[in-house]
Amino acid sequence: MIDARTLPRAYAAPGLVMRDDAGVLADVMMDPVQVAVWDRRSPIDQQLVQQACRKKLAAKSWLDVKDLAGSIERSLPGEDFAPLREDLMLLAGMMACLFGVSGVGVRVTALEKPMCPRFHVDRIPVRLLCTYGGPGSQWLPAPSVPAGLLVPGVEQEGRFAADSVQQLSAGQVALFKGDTWRDNPGSGVVHRSPPVSPGQQRLLVTLDI
Ligand SMILES: [Fe+2]
Repeated sequence: MIDARTLPRAYAAPGLVMRDDAGVLADVMMDPVQVAVWDRRSPIDQQLVQQACRKKLAAKSWLDVKDLAGSIERSLPGEDFAPLREDLMLLAGMMACLFGVSGVGVRVTALEKPMCPRFHVDRIPVRLLCTYGGPGSQWLPAPSVPAGLLVPGVEQEGRFAADSVQQLSAGQVALFKGDTWRDNPGSGVVHRSPPVSPGQQRLLVTLDI
């Protein structure tokens, strides 16, 4: 398994662009790019991640870009979550600006076990993901996806090369193209939730357009 943060640029995976400036996310507009990663440290401390897990934080709603602060406050109330709201403001604002949309779907989930442990492709145009604590999402570059891997019911373990699995680090912001991005059917990013060891806590945010 390869940690995206330690991946030398020369060995970047096919379809991946990664830099430490947020502007890299706009590169997702380019056809060959399937995964764009803004490499940054998590702005949320581990204590808040633990608190979110203790409270089993789970929020799902629609953020109106005209009232971003208000809709985030309503989705994620509480003084303790102010740092998370601040980062959501930034990320949702970036999504709206990048894709010219008036609203963004948000999901905030505290997890102690994998949400989608099987490799799959999302049937959406594009999704932003950020894991604030714990292991990040895993994905396979297209040339490393063996035929038949995604067939329902097929045992996936052992069918792909373990060293081809890419993994996001805590804090990194990724855009994953899905199957319904223009001219992308059959090419959406093959990804899954990371295996989680007992007691390991994750706080995951996804934003959809
Ligand atoms: Fe997914």
